[in-house]
Amino acid sequence: MSTNPNPSALIVYFSLTHQSARVADAMAEALIARGWEATNAAIEFTDERYVQKLSEFPMKRPLLQLTSILPAQLRHKTGEIRIPPEAQTGDYDLVVVASPTWWFNTSMPIRSYLESPEAKTVMRGKPFACVSISRRYFSVNLGQQKKLGERNGGNWVGETHFVCAGGQVKSMLAWLGYMKHGEPQERVFGLEMSPPNLKPDFEEQARSFIAGVLDRVVGAPVDAAG
Ligand SMILES: Cc1cc2nc3c(=O)[nH]c(=O)nc-3n(C[C@H](O)[C@H](O)[C@H](O)COP(=O)(O)O)c2cc1C
Repeated sequence: MSTNPNPSALIVYFSLTHQSARVADAMAEALIARGWEATNAAIEFTDERYVQKLSEFPMKRPLLQLTSILPAQLRHKTGEIRIPPEAQTGDYDLVVVASPTWWFNTSMPIRSYLESPEAKTVMRGKPFACVSISRRYFSVNLGQQKKLGERNGGNWVGETHFVCAGGQVKSMLAWLGYMKHGEPQERVFGLEMSPPNLKPDFEEQARSFIAGVLDRVVGAPVDAAG
């Protein structure tokens, strides 16, 4: 463990439409409730090729705008980001990396962080956990986050996947309707929609995930590669 009086965790996340930020806050609260210090660090996506199209809300043409990054996502490309100072260096006892799913993959901003020298500095020899946040359509690849964390010298201690309310198709339609109109739609194509955001029990999921991770951290090899 670090020399801090209380064990400390870094939660690095990226969030375009605020759902990953809510998950990061819930995990921080769960850590604090167990006597840990928690630092949340939001990665900023600054890549001019995509930012304008993706950050417009509501979106004029959601499908076109959201697919602008599809080829790059499928090819696991990285892009320009700004890393806050807390995620550049630090002697944390646990690093949690939370990413929205973008086209079946870890989002470009989080992939870019995981492939940066700063992530190596922060993760080397440290326990780390992976979190993804998505609608629930198509598969989600948390294995990539794990592989990149291990490449940085981190020791994987767990992963979880938060999903939004509604089934596969309805969840996607609810989300597209939300992105286009800027507010939740009660019906799309005549179908009744669930709310477009996280399931109401996400805070409970965050608490039980953190509890499981902390149980493993106590017995995990720390600073082995440091
Ligand atoms: C460019 C883009 C691609 C996405 N691709 C997927 C996907 O393949 N599967 C999925 O379930 N959700 C997908 N989503 C939805 C997000 O994962 C989901 O809305 C998540 O809650 C967003 O997190 P955020 O609010 O923190 O940005 C995509 C969102 C964006 C912006």
